[in-house]
Amino acid sequence: MGGTEVEGSYVGWDRIGESFSLDPAIAFLNHGARGAVPVAAQRAQQRVRDEGETNPIRYFRHLPERIAHTRRHIAAFLGADPEGSALVGNTTIGAAIVLQSLGLGAGNEVLTTDHRYGAIAFTAERECRRTGATVRTVGVPLDAGEDEVTATVAQALRPGRTRLLIVDQISPPTARLFPVEKIVAAAREREVPVLVDAAHVPGMLPVAVDAIGADFWVGNLHKWAYAPRGTALLTVAPRWRERIDPLAISWEQESGFPARVEWQGTLDYSAWLAAPTGLFVLRTLGPERVRAHNADLAAYGQRVVGAALGLTPEELPDPGSPTLAMRILPLPAGEATTFDAAADLATRIEDKLATVVAVMSWSGQGWLRLCGQVYNRREEYDRLAEGLPGLLRQSR
Ligand SMILES: Cc1ncc(COP(=O)(O)O)c(C=O)c1O
Repeated sequence: MGGTEVEGSYVGWDRIGESFSLDPAIAFLNHGARGAVPVAAQRAQQRVRDEGETNPIRYFRHLPERIAHTRRHIAAFLGADPEGSALVGNTTIGAAIVLQSLGLGAGNEVLTTDHRYGAIAFTAERECRRTGATVRTVGVPLDAGEDEVTATVAQALRPGRTRLLIVDQISPPTARLFPVEKIVAAAREREVPVLVDAAHVPGMLPVAVDAIGADFWVGNLHKWAYAPRGTALLTVAPRWRERIDPLAISWEQESGFPARVEWQGTLDYSAWLAAPTGLFVLRTLGPERVRAHNADLAAYGQRVVGAALGLTPEELPDPGSPTLAMRILPLPAGEATTFDAAADLATRIEDKLATVVAVMSWSGQGWLRLCGQVYNRREEYDRLAEGLPGLLRQSR
């Protein structure tokens, strides 16, 4: 394939790995957990920091307007209302802001699914403990189609009592695409507000946030949109904006949403200001080309590693869309069934196969989650397929 222009230098697609700082000795197949930041975005962040050190007072004086400018740029990329969106440090913080702004009380509940991210569940649990509300979890079968997913979640809502539904757009333990537009529509009929956890969406999928119609939507730019870590966008529907309070109050409190959420006093905001450089890298490489490449690799990895574990193509979980850059596959029975056992297997894979991959325990079973990214190659999944069976308990 041809080359492309990244920050002034010609980069061949076959050498795109050189645009990241990853250790060339490892296969990094876990972009979903911590996205690798392209060198161009790392440098942009460093330039912002350097600038700040030349005159910190002047730098901070102009920061609010630069943050607002950056937010408009990012919101436009995601199809979100720039004045109804706020930059936040990450998805977990965005979810915490939403939860603590709801005014939950005794008798209220927050509904999540069993595909949700653990720290978001902890955040909901803490807010419920604090306010006398409760968290309830609805199970969604891994192989359910869109309509079944929507119906399962909709039937679990208790209008008048469920004060928030938290649903993933792409679920972290199961790498599934959830039909969030349909779920939001079903919840609206029942007058239940929805928070869409879209941590993996920016960069991985084309998205028009406002068209989803959720009350709250939050997504990380630091996973698949190549931004420096600490960059996420929280979008809030008009009727909630006045009620949204930051976790810590600072000087923009009287300015209303979004400034009061974005301004958190003396913090390092350089990741936000450098995030457009990450988007520039994505645009330069071609978002569609990147997505096709990454989805193809994740599917390839699922196939070859699945075959090495004796799984037929029918036994491989369907992500609900061929365009996802993450796929999971079940490990043999008894393997990685607890958090600690999963972490132990991930460490063994890294030590023995020089491969970084997510191993998870979900629904009483162990799973491998494989990601595809521009710096990955088919040989890396082949190496995992060849070495993994020998690392499993049954062969030790
Ligand atoms: C669905 C989901 N939500 C939230 C998070 C947390 O992201 P962060 O640590 O950036 O808040 C993750 C991280 O993988 C995730 O997958």
